[in-house]
Amino acid sequence: MHKDVERILYTEEELRRRVKELGAQITADYAGRNPLLVSVLRGSYIFMADLTRAIGLDVTVDFMAVSSYGAGTVSSGQVEIKKDLSDSIEGRDLIIVEDILDSGNTLYYLMKVLRARKPASIRICALMDKPERRTKPITADYAGFTIPDAFIVGYGLDYAERYRNLPYVGILKPSVYEK
Ligand code: IMP
Ligand code: MG
Repeated sequence: MHKDVERILYTEEELRRRVKELGAQITADYAGRNPLLVSVLRGSYIFMADLTRAIGLDVTVDFMAVSSYGAGTVSSGQVEIKKDLSDSIEGRDLIIVEDILDSGNTLYYLMKVLRARKPASIRICALMDKPERRTKPITADYAGFTIPDAFIVGYGLDYAERYRNLPYVGILKPSVYEK
């Protein structure tokens, strides 16, 4: 285990199993359709890679980058598009793939922007959900794990751009960000 991690919340195996289940559920729900999976960078890149391979449909993928954090552990509420989608989403069945739904600020803003582009439908698939901290009326249609209010890293999730490459999800030692 990494020295900055207090404890492992989900092992590699637990993550693999749950992502497979989410993929199977999406495959069943979207039978006969071709959803467009939109990955919100950077935190969702590993989840996106595993999730898309667990979906047995003809899907397409696109990527978007937004920032709301800086180097802190609390969302600033200010969301900025750093990288926009490459293709039009008009008439498409969108699935937004997020690493974690926390205050809801990021997705609240993103949903507004994407709805205006007239997709046929939008659903949210978040690997992690921290409902205790929600300040915006946003819920995940697909949620991997519901977690308590702790700052987690690994499997794509970062603190100040670090720890994304840990193969598990762990709780970061508070001493790391309280310094
Ligand atoms: P929200 O806008 O507060 O819902 O925050 C969403 C974004 O904040 C996520 O996409 C993550 O990038 C980041 N975030 C929120 N909680 C955590 C966490 O516990 N660890 C790492 N990143 C987090
Ligand atoms: Mg992040």
